[in-house]
Amino acid sequence: MAIVGEKVIKEFGNPPTRVLHALDFRIDDGEFISISGRSGSGKSTLLYIISTLDKPTQGRVLIDGRDPSLMTTAEIHRFRNTSVGFIFQFHYLLPELSALENVLLGPRNMSIWKEKRAYAMELLDTFGVADQAHKLPAQMSGGQQQRVAIARALVMNPKYIFADEPTGNLDTINGERVMGILLDINKRLKTTICLVTHEPDYAKLANREIFLSDGHIVSTADPGESAPMTTPS
Ligand SMILES: Nc1ncnc2c1ncn2[C@@H]1O[C@H](COP(=O)(O)OP(=O)(O)OP(=O)(O)O)[C@@H](O)[C@H]1O
Ligand SMILES: [Mg+2]
Repeated sequence: MAIVGEKVIKEFGNPPTRVLHALDFRIDDGEFISISGRSGSGKSTLLYIISTLDKPTQGRVLIDGRDPSLMTTAEIHRFRNTSVGFIFQFHYLLPELSALENVLLGPRNMSIWKEKRAYAMELLDTFGVADQAHKLPAQMSGGQQQRVAIARALVMNPKYIFADEPTGNLDTINGERVMGILLDINKRLKTTICLVTHEPDYAKLANREIFLSDGHIVSTADPGESAPMTTPS
């Protein structure tokens, strides 16, 4: 199965400015793709559309054959809660909740936090922040907060991870750590990962790199090992 974009156009404002120009793309299950390009080229806009947080102005996105903009509100919330993990440059942990409570937010919404508590602790441990579990975000370093945010994105074992510059605020060591975690999840759990980054070294670690220039896909190079074969559906 796959996420398929068909002539995806995005415009903002009035008169409309076109930010994405009829993009066709396909992201197969289990792929690790990077989205790169200069500032303002449309990376975040594309990621928001791929991840159901925003809708195309024209064209459509199909996730496993279904158009999210035609789902009911309940369906889309369920999809986001159970199938998608979001990681942003600014982590958006809730300031009044501890690290562990932040990780358990999604499970709490689904009324399964008791079942997930041990796994949440295991994730914090994997990322080296188990000792931060009962601290508030303001009492942790930026790198620790980011790792908590990644644990939160993973706790539901999502099918997809959408990450927008997750290493943007981190030093080299923590940036590499986060990249290592994403690569490991992709390999071990076959999680599909879409990573927006302007770090060429990180973009190259993906199976496939989608390079944007002024809202056009100018290449979908294969920087590393061969990407999975795509078959027309
Ligand atoms: N809500 C909005 N309203 C109007 N214009 C917008 C909006 N969001 C994005 N844009 C414009 O769309 C273009 C693409 O923005 P986008 O945020 O996707 O770029 P980006 O590639 O993620 O850049 P960066 O690397 O700086 O994060 C930019 O010219 C931006 O100003
Ligand atoms: Mg951006």
